Amino acid sequence: MPGAKVVLRVENLVKRYDREVLNIERLVLHRGKIYGIIGPSGAGKSTLLRIINQLVKADRGEIYYFGRSNSHNAKDSLDLRRQMTLVFQKTILFRTTVFENIAYGLKVRGFKKQEIKKRVDTLLEQVGLKELAGRHAATLSGGEAQRVALARAVAFEPALLLLDEPTANLDPANVELMERLILDLKRNTSITVIMVTHNVFQARRVTDEVIFLYDGRIVEMGETKQIFTAPHDPRTGAFIEGRMIY
Ligand SMILES: Nc1ncnc2c1ncn2[C@@H]1O[C@H](COP(=O)(O)OP(=O)(O)OP(=O)(O)O)[C@@H](O)[C@H]1O
Ligand SMILES: [Mg+2]
Repeated sequence: MPGAKVVLRVENLVKRYDREVLNIERLVLHRGKIYGIIGPSGAGKSTLLRIINQLVKADRGEIYYFGRSNSHNAKDSLDLRRQMTLVFQKTILFRTTVFENIAYGLKVRGFKKQEIKKRVDTLLEQVGLKELAGRHAATLSGGEAQRVALARAVAFEPALLLLDEPTANLDPANVELMERLILDLKRNTSITVIMVTHNVFQARRVTDEVIFLYDGRIVEMGETKQIFTAPHDPRTGAFIEGRMIY
């Protein structure tokens, strides 16, 4: 399943609340790339991630994961959910130790105890939290908690990692750490990442391609460099230069 080159294909997706908040004709994402979603507040960025992650149902449209439609087959859907994971801006950790938080996804997926220990130790090292393995998650600072959340999310090597402003509340050192982790992941695995960010500089530093979402629609999508140096749509330019009032 994760062998497919096209990881995600979205077609004619519509979501309404009291008004239409998303209308995406087509979106195709490839394996091994980091995609950034940028756009004003209320553009539909989080809603799109939630629909992709199947936390929210679309009113219309189809999403194909790894070349397969999101069929209503419950088993398919469960397999699929095990291939992707979403990290929110505000982390919700389990009420247990740092180690157990990271180990959780591996346990439910049936990994052996030894393998779990090995992986969790490696991840703790990578996120710089080795000393905190035995700490209760409730006592962590925001930056530490967010690093645990990312480690927990990637522990089982999902094919698709969804990040909703994962660094919005962090100080610059923690932001850099998180960005480095994401770039390392890209280098060392075939993971596909979709990252919503308010920070256009971050999109520029981390992503391969940028999707500019405005009023529920994709105004422009392209290579990060092109979007930042020669955007085709004036609204994209206005947004990245901070001239867009919203
Ligand atoms: N559960 C809901 N019920 C009603 N309206 C909703 C709901 N969730 C989102 N919306 C509306 O849908 C629109 C898109 O919301 P969404 O959270 O996707 O925006 P966003 O691009 O993530 O914004 P931000 O940058 O502020 O996080 C907004 O107008 C929001 O108020
Ligand atoms: Mg949002």
